[in-house]
Amino acid sequence: MSQWFMLLVFLLLLLLSCVSPSSLFTFKNPVVGLVACGPHQIHVFTQFKNEFDTRVCNHSDFLNGVWCDNSTGAITKLRLRACLSGTLKSNSILFHFHQLRYLDLSHNKLTPSFIPSEFGMLNKLEVLFLSGSGFLDQVPSSFSNLTMLSVLALKDNELTGSLSFVRNLRTLTVLDVSDNHFSGILNPNSSLFELHHLTYLDLSFNNFTSSPLPYKFGNLHKLESLSVTHNSFFGEVPPTISNLTQLTALLLHSNYFTGSLPRVQNLTKLSILALDNNHFSGTIHSPLFTMPFLSSIYLHGNNLRGSIEVPNSSFSSRLESLYLGKNHFEGKILEPISKLINLKELDLSYLNTSYPVDLSLLSSLKSLLLLDLSGDWISHASLSSDSYKSNPSTLELLYINQCNISEFPNILKTLHNLEYIDVSNNRISGKIPEWLWSIPRLRSVLITDNLLTGFEGSPEVLVNSSLQFLSMDSNYLKGELPHLPLSINYFTAQGNAFSGVIPLSICNRSLLDVLDLSYNNFTGMIPSCLTKLLILSLRKNNLEGSIPDKYYANATLWTLDVGYNRLTGKLPRSLLNCSALQFLSADHNAINDTFPFFLKALPKLQVLILRSNKFYGPISPPNQGSLGFPELQILEIAGNKFTGSLSPIFFVNWKAFSLKKNENLALYMVYDVSLYGRYSLRYMETIDIQYKGLSMEQESVLTSSATIDFSGNRLEGKIPESIGLLKELIALNLSNNAFTGHIPLSLANLMKLESLDLSSNQLSGTIPNGLGTLSFLAYINISHNQLTGEIPQGTQIVGQAKSSFEGNAGLCGLPLDERCHGTNAPPSQQDKEEEEDEEEEQVLNWKGVAIGFGLGVLLGLAIAQLIASYKPEWLICLITCGNR
Ligand SMILES: *[C@@H]1O[C@H](CO)[C@@H](O)[C@H](O)[C@H]1NC(C)=O
Ligand SMILES: *[C@@H]1O[C@H](CO)[C@@H](O)[C@H](O)[C@H]1NC(C)=O
Ligand SMILES: *[C@@H]1O[C@H](CO)[C@@H](O)[C@H](O)[C@H]1NC(C)=O
Ligand SMILES: *[C@@H]1O[C@H](CO)[C@@H](O)[C@H](O)[C@H]1NC(C)=O
Ligand SMILES: *[C@@H]1O[C@H](CO)[C@@H](O)[C@H](O)[C@H]1NC(C)=O
Ligand SMILES: *[C@@H]1O[C@H](CO)[C@@H](O)[C@H](O)[C@H]1NC(C)=O
Ligand SMILES: *[C@@H]1O[C@H](CO)[C@@H](O)[C@H](O)[C@H]1NC(C)=O
Ligand SMILES: *[C@@H]1O[C@H](CO)[C@@H](O)[C@H](O)[C@H]1NC(C)=O
Ligand SMILES: *[C@@H]1O[C@H](CO)[C@@H](O)[C@H](O)[C@H]1NC(C)=O
Ligand SMILES: *[C@@H]1O[C@H](CO)[C@@H](O)[C@H](O)[C@H]1NC(C)=O
Repeated sequence: MSQWFMLLVFLLLLLLSCVSPSSLFTFKNPVVGLVACGPHQIHVFTQFKNEFDTRVCNHSDFLNGVWCDNSTGAITKLRLRACLSGTLKSNSILFHFHQLRYLDLSHNKLTPSFIPSEFGMLNKLEVLFLSGSGFLDQVPSSFSNLTMLSVLALKDNELTGSLSFVRNLRTLTVLDVSDNHFSGILNPNSSLFELHHLTYLDLSFNNFTSSPLPYKFGNLHKLESLSVTHNSFFGEVPPTISNLTQLTALLLHSNYFTGSLPRVQNLTKLSILALDNNHFSGTIHSPLFTMPFLSSIYLHGNNLRGSIEVPNSSFSSRLESLYLGKNHFEGKILEPISKLINLKELDLSYLNTSYPVDLSLLSSLKSLLLLDLSGDWISHASLSSDSYKSNPSTLELLYINQCNISEFPNILKTLHNLEYIDVSNNRISGKIPEWLWSIPRLRSVLITDNLLTGFEGSPEVLVNSSLQFLSMDSNYLKGELPHLPLSINYFTAQGNAFSGVIPLSICNRSLLDVLDLSYNNFTGMIPSCLTKLLILSLRKNNLEGSIPDKYYANATLWTLDVGYNRLTGKLPRSLLNCSALQFLSADHNAINDTFPFFLKALPKLQVLILRSNKFYGPISPPNQGSLGFPELQILEIAGNKFTGSLSPIFFVNWKAFSLKKNENLALYMVYDVSLYGRYSLRYMETIDIQYKGLSMEQESVLTSSATIDFSGNRLEGKIPESIGLLKELIALNLSNNAFTGHIPLSLANLMKLESLDLSSNQLSGTIPNGLGTLSFLAYINISHNQLTGEIPQGTQIVGQAKSSFEGNAGLCGLPLDERCHGTNAPPSQQDKEEEEDEEEEQVLNWKGVAIGFGLGVLLGLAIAQLIASYKPEWLICLITCGNR
């Protein structure tokens, strides 16, 4: 069954009582005595605004965005959010507004640029917001000049370096540097610990480290909110944290903290305590459950042990959210928890207690909305309705994932408020009972990875339910697909044995966004009515006919995967209208068409896979220019009948291949809906990339990847030197074509290359020495060409198999057995050098072009991780996210 478990993965994310910094982000607007500005100020202001492209600005916001001082008339407040695009230059007129006290330039598209050090001139600033505006590099040290600053928000940029710029900012009350790339050791001498007025400090989502966390945090005793989540802090949390008695939120999750849980009993105002996803060990101190304002405790994903003791006095506890999952608690767990009668959310997943579980104890939790009982520790419990008689009928979300259960628990019949049920990864077999669909408020059902074979009831059994999300991947469901409910938004049934045609009833499911029927046995044609989908995957079925052309009239489609069918005809030209398309895979069909140059107009296309079809004709554009798909990262056109040569500038301006991406660039995360603001469902498309020698371990994170496979076509002529511009390339396969000329010297620029296959062409000349220096090159194959001379003796090359060099009459040196003698010497050294000079020059020019056009690409990258297997099997993709 695991072989069916391929292309996509779901993820349920609880977006529970989100710890929202913005709600804590309150401060008094210190700027008073403002009036509308006179004509002169408006004129100067207009000059500033004209430094940018302001087409998307709201004009009425503009007029409200500028304020002047009542007595002096100087501009003192500017607020221009989310509309400017362009560059904030160091000679901007902004830096003449010396009287500015309040400046908000958040969420503008200031193309990746430095924060000009001229900000130091605005030393009357009290409030400065520069969040989400694309700033790069270090914060200038001139910021130390801004000694009046009270609020500084630099969130969500690409800033690096340390926090040394806070020196002298003694009056700061709010400092938010989250979501950047700040790094380094947070040292006790840091000026940060001199900011005694701080009430709000957010260092989350950076790469700060230190062990232990500096004791000096205890100095910041006015802190009301402290967040250091998602950094690399380790070691113990210092006891001085208990000095921060004003704290209402203490967020330390997703670091590497060890030791026992910090003592927080003295933090009597604490409302949210997040310590999850660390390595804390030891036990829970029972006073935690009697803290007067504590409403949310997140402890999941640690190494906590011991029993849970809830004092009797905690009947007055305000605790609403308790996350204990993935720890090693022992003893009676439900008994003490049953005293926390105000709980709304309870996570007990993957505990490994062997104590008998009596779920009826939970019936005292009369407000419970969410219950996570995943993991096989619960398999000893009886999930029948009897055991849970006076059950909380309030329950809306229930997780019974990986519990090793073999039938649908009867308990479900009694949960009349249930909206969401996840029973994935169990051993439930037989037919899905009809009663499941009549739970009145049920919206989402996840029953992937079970042993189900069908549906009780008629094919109409689902139609009258109000299901919106139904996922039944990786079962043994067979026969015809039942008719889907009219309310359906999301339906996936990948990896089953459904057969017959795709029912036309699907045509009037007008709310459907995601349809994944891949890895089944559907036959017939693809219905041409699915015009509003975001995601359509029909991979690995037996579908025939052509891909309908009227299909894609509207620009909603993100993903279209029709690979491994028996489709014929041409790629639909109407795909051109799909301006949101990111992923197109039509591999392993019998499509008879020319190269789809028209797709070049799609601004977001990242993956194009046309492997093993009957495509023919040239792949160089008619004007002999660059192919230049702006965002393309994976191009696989192997096994077709493409012909012709590649123009010298074929690889110029492939932006996504050339520019370094954000660390977390993933291929894409395509579907992510929040349901009722509480949980969300993510669909992820992955692909099977098969290149020999890619060193990625199974399930390693493919943070950024660029691959090209043109193998098995009839391409000829030289391999353009412009290939060397594709700096992000990790795999290149041009084998089994008719390429001639030399191996491009510029290949040596592809520092990330792990797999290179140029075998079975007609390449001549010597192997560039530079190839020996590519330190990640794990696989190289240049066999069956007409190469001559000595094989460069880099470590990566000498370690290759002999077969990688065979079939070249003129090669010598290791790993081949042929020793090099004078006879095999390459052509005259002088000729060769001249040639090299010329080619290097060409490459330099192209670099200029590529960078000139390329800067915009750093913006707007997807937030996802693709975890991919490079085994010749299909990829298995997993994403891991916290519960918040
Ligand atoms: C501006 O100042 C004048 C006198 O200095 C005062 O009368 C007026 O109320 C002030 N206006 C505002 C909006 O503060
Ligand atoms: C522009 O801003 C005004 C006031 O802030 C608001 O009422 C209006 O809806 C906005 N218009 C647009 C197109 O966003
Ligand atoms: C700091 O502010 C003063 C004005 O008070 C200015 O003369 C100086 O250039 C500023 N320093 C920097 C580094 O911007
Ligand atoms: C901190 O400063 C003190 C004295 O100023 C110095 O002795 C110590 O080495 C510094 N510590 C670090 C970690 O830089
Ligand atoms: C974080 O910093 C550590 C060294 O302090 C470094 O090894 C690691 O690669 C950094 N991680 C990221 C994502 O920058
Ligand atoms: C605790 O806070 C007080 C002020 O309330 C401060 O004087 C003291 O230095 C702090 N202690 C530690 C250990 O940080
Ligand atoms: C809590 O505060 C009391 C005094 O209010 C003090 O004696 C005790 O040491 C503090 N506990 C911790 C863990 O800081
Ligand atoms: C798919 O259906 C065809 C007949 O339509 C049948 O011959 C074939 O065995 C089925 N394949 C699978 C994997 O069920
Ligand atoms: C496409 O969108 C337009 C409006 O944007 C709508 O009127 C039309 O019905 C849509 N077409 C399809 C096939 O969904
Ligand atoms: C592709 O289609 C053309 C007609 O459009 C036809 O002449 C040709 O034989 C087809 N090629 C293949 C391989 O089927």
